[in-house]
Amino acid sequence: MEGGREDIIYLDNAATSFPKPKEVVEKAFEFITRSGANPGRAGHRLSVEASRILFECRKALSEMLDVEREERLIFTKNATEGLNVVAYGLLKDKKGNVVTTSLEHNSVMRPLRLISQNNPIEIRVAKAQRSGRLEPEKIEALIDEETVAVFVNHASNVTGTTLPIFEIAQITEKRGIPLVVDLTQSMGCMPLSFKGLSFTIPVFTGHKSLLGFPGTGGFYLPEAVEIEPLIVGGTGSNSENQWQPDFMPDKFESGTPNTVGIASLLAGVNWIKKKGVESIRKHEIELAKCFTELVDKHPQIEVYGHRDWPEKVAVVSVNVKDKDPAVVSLLLDREFGILTRAGLHCAPIAHETIGTFPTGAVRFAFGVFNSLKDAEYAAKALIKVAEGGVSYDS
Ligand code: ALA
Repeated sequence: MEGGREDIIYLDNAATSFPKPKEVVEKAFEFITRSGANPGRAGHRLSVEASRILFECRKALSEMLDVEREERLIFTKNATEGLNVVAYGLLKDKKGNVVTTSLEHNSVMRPLRLISQNNPIEIRVAKAQRSGRLEPEKIEALIDEETVAVFVNHASNVTGTTLPIFEIAQITEKRGIPLVVDLTQSMGCMPLSFKGLSFTIPVFTGHKSLLGFPGTGGFYLPEAVEIEPLIVGGTGSNSENQWQPDFMPDKFESGTPNTVGIASLLAGVNWIKKKGVESIRKHEIELAKCFTELVDKHPQIEVYGHRDWPEKVAVVSVNVKDKDPAVVSLLLDREFGILTRAGLHCAPIAHETIGTFPTGAVRFAFGVFNSLKDAEYAAKALIKVAEGGVSYDS
């Protein structure tokens, strides 16, 4: 690990992972100091080196998703941008309905709301249980011949619970309906395989469990799905043509890419591959489970989401009875150096689902560099806050 801090315990890895492996920092430093040219815009050696980084990262990410056509792996600046490109591409100027879930982040809900305001698209929301579970049949029941696309999140950034995306994909694939899967909280910490899926579009961010820098992300567009780009412009290719190229990945990658970020992302993915997604997952879940078990029975503390760990990522949201989550989070930081995120986590509909809207909850999101000691310390600190051992005015 490079950096990190002795004075804090960082438990906000669902917002962005911190710290990053030292290999990630070194790779980005090496790139910007040794080969920081513009990829695909020239034939000189540095431009070629920069192109190589993009190529290798596309390949590494495609392998992680278990998809074949790496040129169809598109870089964006984050999952939100990827979700917007895909949402507009699939739904703009269309008529019908889009099916989604009551666990989504605003990065899905806001583009859908805006698109439905300007296009005759009805938004149908499959309601999850308070535990974070949602049976695929509930999604299936909302799909009809007018359904243009389905958007589901894999792991909730609020409850840490996952949806059975590959079961849902069976429903959408047989109907030829595009299924957009938001992997923001799962790619890098859960094994994934999109092999053989023709209409399923995984969208990811690079700076959370993939351990790259902020400003990275992307999506994979299977061959059977045709959409138009949201942004067009210079691609370094076909410069004689004033029209956007229609080959991949250039069709969706206009403007100078975030090469430093992509170099960091490549190192992040390689670091994860070396360590093994399964072993990272086992470690993170052990911490989330330990923390949950220590606070779960406390009469003043409520933990949200089910406790079926094989179906979760290491995200645990809680509330302390009669205490504002923002105050709890502030006390954890000020008195214990524990960094959490309080509030609605940009997912108001998910908080409505678990009954914590509008005040939200305090989220503890464990990462690969946290230890069991961190989890135990966080649980003790939370119990101390719950029992009034520290107060806002103290
Ligand atoms: N979506 C990120 C979170 O859940 C920022 O905190």
